[in-house]
Amino acid sequence: MKDMINNLDTSPEEFKELLDRTNELVLSRFQELDKRKAYHNIPQEERRQWFDEKLPEEGMNAFEILEETKTKVLDNATDNLGKHMYAYVMAGGTQISILGEQLAATINQNGGKWHLSPSIAEIEKRVVQWGADMIGYGSNVGGVLVSGGSAANLNGLTIARNIYFERKEIRKTGLFNTKPFTVYTSKEVHGCIDKSVDLLGIGTNHLRKIETNSDFTINLEALETKIKGDIANGFIPFCLVGNAGTVNTGAIDDLNALAELARKYSLWFHVDGAYGGLASTLDSVKNEYNGLDRADSVAIDFHKWLYQPFEVGCILVKNWDILKRAYFKKADYLDTKFEHQGRLDFNEHSFQLSRNSKALKVWMSIKGYGMKRLREMIQKDIDLTHYLSEQVEASSDFEIKARSHLAVSCFRYVGNFTSEKEIIRINELLIPALEKDGRVFITGTRLNGEFVLRACIINHRKQKEDIDYLLNVIREVAQTIEL
Ligand SMILES: Cc1ncc(COP(=O)(O)O)c(C=O)c1O
Repeated sequence: MKDMINNLDTSPEEFKELLDRTNELVLSRFQELDKRKAYHNIPQEERRQWFDEKLPEEGMNAFEILEETKTKVLDNATDNLGKHMYAYVMAGGTQISILGEQLAATINQNGGKWHLSPSIAEIEKRVVQWGADMIGYGSNVGGVLVSGGSAANLNGLTIARNIYFERKEIRKTGLFNTKPFTVYTSKEVHGCIDKSVDLLGIGTNHLRKIETNSDFTINLEALETKIKGDIANGFIPFCLVGNAGTVNTGAIDDLNALAELARKYSLWFHVDGAYGGLASTLDSVKNEYNGLDRADSVAIDFHKWLYQPFEVGCILVKNWDILKRAYFKKADYLDTKFEHQGRLDFNEHSFQLSRNSKALKVWMSIKGYGMKRLREMIQKDIDLTHYLSEQVEASSDFEIKARSHLAVSCFRYVGNFTSEKEIIRINELLIPALEKDGRVFITGTRLNGEFVLRACIINHRKQKEDIDYLLNVIREVAQTIEL
């Protein structure tokens, strides 16, 4: 018989050297964090050319791959760790999570089946309950770690649909021959709800986006009027989505009132807490979330306000049985008949079969930092956001557009401009100009149709001087723009 060729592994000695070099690269990311550019303005075409190569037939030296990765990826990465990132919701990651990710990849557990990842499965159950504890959602909850807020919301709406229509057997028959059913939320809702409604075959025409009040929370009267109107017109209202922190301004709907309406009209009550849910762990804002515990499902996102590196979100429901009813499908090759009782297989409670070990980094971080410190960080983010809003209000060349109880502030640069047209123009031009400059990374949004700069401050590394720096860089860049 021909000799078998060896596997892909290298010697322990060489592997150690590779790990040492990787560790040096990891460490270097934490040096001079405040001096690092937030964005490297390298033309897209140039980047494309760096990676424009044919499928390699022969392997290259692993040390050389590390060097190439350093120059082409690390050295010019958008600094999402950092101090000067304000766009979207970029929480910066934690050092303990880096250890967790590396160890998780090393043991390569498959979180779909208990016996393929025994300790990780138990850890995931624990992390799910800890997530529920943070937001006061109850004990013995069910839940699954997913890729992020979008996936958590898609899961929430999927569970809602499958459970709500269990009697109608729509999982066998599909949505054919049902009357259109309708989903309600505020017009400030995150786009992943639109995507979810689309993916679930409900149709975005049946997503009712309700007007908001001046503080961007859902208008309850308009909501009830719409539900009543839909019932009168033959629609089936089935799900109400509350926002526990909108992406634009951090607005938290009156969740108690929504829970009441959901009960009155027999609707599934889902809460999108991806952005703000975890802040409900703070005494200072807890009251804003009254009613969150009454939700049938809640999306939370650990790669936001638990500072985890991407990806890890979580869908929570009141018990495990709900998940099993929503997702279980029998398959001969997954049969658990011969296994010991008491094991929970995540593939029976969620969509994915093969799954990585997202829970490990979260578990290690929560244990390593402890909730006391994590709460302090969340509170610091909120305090820094108030500081930013105050600085904006106190200055003559900026104007505040939306303050929030959470960590997002919307404002405009006004400089010495007096005409509204010029103010709109300068703010629109600021976004690409700031990206080109690269010292800070901030994006915009629209509030009631008006374009504004939006700073999100969910990042445990930020300090007061970074906020001052942000405003100064915006000023400096604005002054270089010719209208
Ligand atoms: C309120 C809200 N929901 C959902 C999402 C989507 O989360 P992800 O980006 O993790 O998919 C976001 C992201 O910012 C959000 O702010």
